Amino acid sequence: MNKKVLVTGGSKGIGKSIAKLLSEYGYDVYICARNIEHLEQTARQIKVKNYFSCDLTNPKSCQELIEKIGNVDILINNAGEYIWNPIEKTTEDQLCNLVEINIKAPYRLIALCISSMKQKKWGRIVNIGSISGVVGEANASVYSMTKSALNGLTKSLGLELAEYGITVNTINPGWVSTELAQNAVEDCDFSNQEVIDMIPQKRFISPDEIAHLVKYIISEEAKGLTAQNISLCAGLSAG
Ligand SMILES: NC(=O)c1ccc[n+]([C@@H]2O[C@H](COP(=O)([O-])OP(=O)(O)OC[C@H]3O[C@@H](n4cnc5c(N)ncnc54)[C@H](OP(=O)(O)O)[C@@H]3O)[C@@H](O)[C@H]2O)c1
Repeated sequence: MNKKVLVTGGSKGIGKSIAKLLSEYGYDVYICARNIEHLEQTARQIKVKNYFSCDLTNPKSCQELIEKIGNVDILINNAGEYIWNPIEKTTEDQLCNLVEINIKAPYRLIALCISSMKQKKWGRIVNIGSISGVVGEANASVYSMTKSALNGLTKSLGLELAEYGITVNTINPGWVSTELAQNAVEDCDFSNQEVIDMIPQKRFISPDEIAHLVKYIISEEAKGLTAQNISLCAGLSAG
């Protein structure tokens, strides 16, 4: 296969599942996150050789990361953070941090990867957004705002890069069983059961379900799928 894939935030949760599945299917997988112990542990567990500790809110770190990896064929912009806070309690630091990691980091990484993809006339970019950016989430306005920005980015870049054989898509998950979701439930006004009751399928999505959709989106069979924002949310967006 020999296609080089970067999965940001590949040490945990959804990113870990994506990295594991793509590695099993023969892709040359690279993962990054800040915490080096988590990265080492995950890399051992899922048998991925290449991992880098890196804070993606720092533009220089993004640049160094891509220089170290070399030409990335497939970029999975998965790393992201969530905060639950009413608008009047949201601090300037929280606002800036979420904009950095959820919007600016994916944008920068795409910009850094695009020239080699254009030369090869082939590339895949998959962003992990959120259903909160599609339908909105009370008390998570900064998060929802940053995730809906990815949806606009996807449509624009999908058009801009279509003639180069590069596809750009965003998956908008509903509740997925990860540490981020567990912390979100603890922070919010609802119990775990109340959250489940609000989901049409009465369950959290598993990280593997997201990984399998990513695997399809980056395949040759999906070459016509571009500029799309796809909800994988157990029915939440229609409820
Ligand atoms: N779980 C859900 O219910 C859900 C729903 C919709 C969308 N999503 C989205 O799915 C993506 C993955 O979420 P998850 O639930 O898998 O979260 P998670 O379990 O908290 O994992 C997040 C990953 O991102 C990395 N990361 C966070 N900040 C980073 C930074 N500044 N620089 C580099 N890496 C960073 C984390 O590692 P370090 O902390 O070590 O850096 C970790 O590897 C996020 O974009 C999230 O918004 C999740």
